[in-house]
Amino acid sequence: MGLQFVRELMVRTSGRIVACVLRPGSAPDLDAYLGGLDGNDRRRVDVRRLDVTDVEQIDRLVEEVGSTYGGRVDGLFNVAGVLGDGKNTPGPETNIGQIDWGWATSQMAVNAIGPMTMTSKFAPLLRARRGRDAYLRTTGSMESVVVNLSARVASVDDNNVGGLAWYTYRMSKAALNAGVRASSHELRRQGTWTLCLYPGMTDTAMSRPFQSRGLRDKGLIFPVDFAVGRMMDVVDGMEEVHSGGFYDWAGQSIPF
Ligand SMILES: NC(=O)c1ccc[n+]([C@@H]2O[C@H](COP(=O)([O-])OP(=O)(O)OC[C@H]3O[C@@H](n4cnc5c(N)ncnc54)[C@H](OP(=O)(O)O)[C@@H]3O)[C@@H](O)[C@H]2O)c1
Repeated sequence: MGLQFVRELMVRTSGRIVACVLRPGSAPDLDAYLGGLDGNDRRRVDVRRLDVTDVEQIDRLVEEVGSTYGGRVDGLFNVAGVLGDGKNTPGPETNIGQIDWGWATSQMAVNAIGPMTMTSKFAPLLRARRGRDAYLRTTGSMESVVVNLSARVASVDDNNVGGLAWYTYRMSKAALNAGVRASSHELRRQGTWTLCLYPGMTDTAMSRPFQSRGLRDKGLIFPVDFAVGRMMDVVDGMEEVHSGGFYDWAGQSIPF
């Protein structure tokens, strides 16, 4: 979905986009997309390497983005995440006996601590919104935004029947949600709004091991362009009251 956010931001904004990849050369679809852009558009996208669990890399990125783009960032999209496939990875778990310390720790690192550290380190750059060439949402609001990709299975209140166990994925995304709500108060005071978004089950590498013909036939697996487009609609229409909230792709509130 990260690439699709780049595509959407290219169309909906006039600003520069810093697209981060875990390993340079590991995102052939991004490379193909960039290869098809004309010179002006190509210059709008800056590709950087980033492992969200590596604080030194995050520090370096913040420094480089700050010095390259005049100390100002209008939007931070925390999209990276890990679920595992249950075959080559200890998760997602299907029963309580499968909880693995190392896997649990890595889930927390990528899905919760990583994005919250990104928000923490980028906060000073997000503060400096000036409005020139700004990413203006349809509401006309000038605040900067932090968008965090979460999951409906992270909802504690909504988890009354169990279904999928997926313990450490649920725990890590619930921790992200808690961090986003907690930080929303402080960030609001500097003119930054933050929220958690659930894309719906979307046709990506992450969901592929869990897709079934039944889900597909019922139209319950969204194409990537649909899911990201609807999430961008939610971001575009965001008001202060939404900051700190947890919403699905249609803008419907999800209980924490
Ligand atoms: N797809 C769904 O149905 C669904 C549903 C609910 C929530 N979500 C959430 O939506 C977000 C996007 O997921 P997706 O469906 O686009 O999954 P995806 O296709 O698996 O993409 C996830 C990306 O995160 C990158 N990544 C993993 N660890 C990283 C790290 N330490 N640092 C930086 N990047 C890292 C991966 O890089 P590599 O490919 O190089 O490993 C991959 O490009 C995730 O946060 C996910 O939890 C997805």
